[in-house]
Amino acid sequence: MPVIAVIGAQWGDEGKGRVVDLLAQQAGAVARFSGGDNAGHTIVNPFGKFALQLVPSGIFNPRTVCIIGNGVVINPKVLIDEIDKLEERGVDTSHLFVSDRAQLIMPYHLLLDGLEEEARGGKALGTTRKGIGPAFTDKAARLGIRAGGLLDREALRERLRSIIDYKNVILTKVYGVKPLSLDEVYGQYCQYGERLSPYIRETTIMLDEALNKNELVLLEGAQGTLLDPDFGTYPYSTSSSSIAGQGCLGAGIGPTRINAVLGVYKAYCSRVGAGPMPTELKDKTGELIRERGHEYGTVSGRPRRCGWFDAVAARFSSRVNGFTGAAITRLDILDILPSLKICVAYELDGKTIDYFPASVAALERCQPVYEELEGWETSTADVRQFNKLPAKARKYVNRLEELIGCPANLVCVGPERGQAIEKTPIL
Ligand code: IMP
Repeated sequence: MPVIAVIGAQWGDEGKGRVVDLLAQQAGAVARFSGGDNAGHTIVNPFGKFALQLVPSGIFNPRTVCIIGNGVVINPKVLIDEIDKLEERGVDTSHLFVSDRAQLIMPYHLLLDGLEEEARGGKALGTTRKGIGPAFTDKAARLGIRAGGLLDREALRERLRSIIDYKNVILTKVYGVKPLSLDEVYGQYCQYGERLSPYIRETTIMLDEALNKNELVLLEGAQGTLLDPDFGTYPYSTSSSSIAGQGCLGAGIGPTRINAVLGVYKAYCSRVGAGPMPTELKDKTGELIRERGHEYGTVSGRPRRCGWFDAVAARFSSRVNGFTGAAITRLDILDILPSLKICVAYELDGKTIDYFPASVAALERCQPVYEELEGWETSTADVRQFNKLPAKARKYVNRLEELIGCPANLVCVGPERGQAIEKTPIL
């Protein structure tokens, strides 16, 4: 009954989707456990190139049960569009299931995400404006509507009535915008319910069945550890937990069942949205990495901020997740650089520190202390074995392993399945 949690180890966009797509070829089940359609998992495989937002990255293996877990917030319109587009491109989605406990993103969440960002002015968080924060807020406030709620129309109308009355007070009195119509929202969500009802299930039973059959189960993270509301750069974070512990909570399996936690790291750093990023490069090298790596948001198209690998943050991430191994992605993007830097400590107010501060004000003041390594200046894209990589590239990866504090299981030199080199076994 092996369970592998695949976790973003930096600020998201590390390549979790490509790793899950690869491992899912052997998996009995894959469950997404957090976030929503703020995620954009880019996958290149024999079916083509895809940017999945809600559907688990195991969908390309028809034998894999794919679950959108209770820890995810679902915009039903986005999910329906995603299912339709996959089907149009010949990808079977009949093995996709949605937890009846997953929360729904409602029209007022989308409106409020935008209005709240505007109200923050210069202190805006740079959210994806997909309604994620307001939906998770409502979950905690017990004002949410769950996917299973779409299956009982009468109860849905009653629940929506009281919630919309309350939301309309906020929309009109606080933000001075038009109220929402109960009938319209209700009608729209009844249609979504009709379309999604075949997918909505009690999914913890399905995961249990896969485990009891001794099948490989993957827990697919979204976003990254440094965007986690507890351990990330709060308040410049997302609003659902992106770390390994959430894998259990957001999919509905116990912590005793996880066998391996794979931390996915880019060979450098990137971040989209506001908030501190100590190794950000605002120079030509940063631009070069962005252009070579096509570092633009999968969902929003926003340019990503790029910088050197931050080993202080990486070690912290490994600690709070308990990584048993790492996947180092996008090594090939660094192929043309004559020298590379790795941040091994921070200078904070005249002192050298080796930990990741909780305070964003302190993090903003942190100056990276770099170690410099020679670049390999040759293409790695066609290499398929670790010992065939240029010696300087191996040295770079070995140093990352040392600094992160766990072995690299995978090293990726391109987006395709064949471009993931196994360095050490995950299990
Ligand atoms: P939210 O999750 O839309 O509320 O956005 C909060 C922060 O998380 C913003 O800085 C977003 O850019 C960032 N964020 C959310 N999802 C992702 C992701 O999948 N990749 C990278 N950044 C993300």
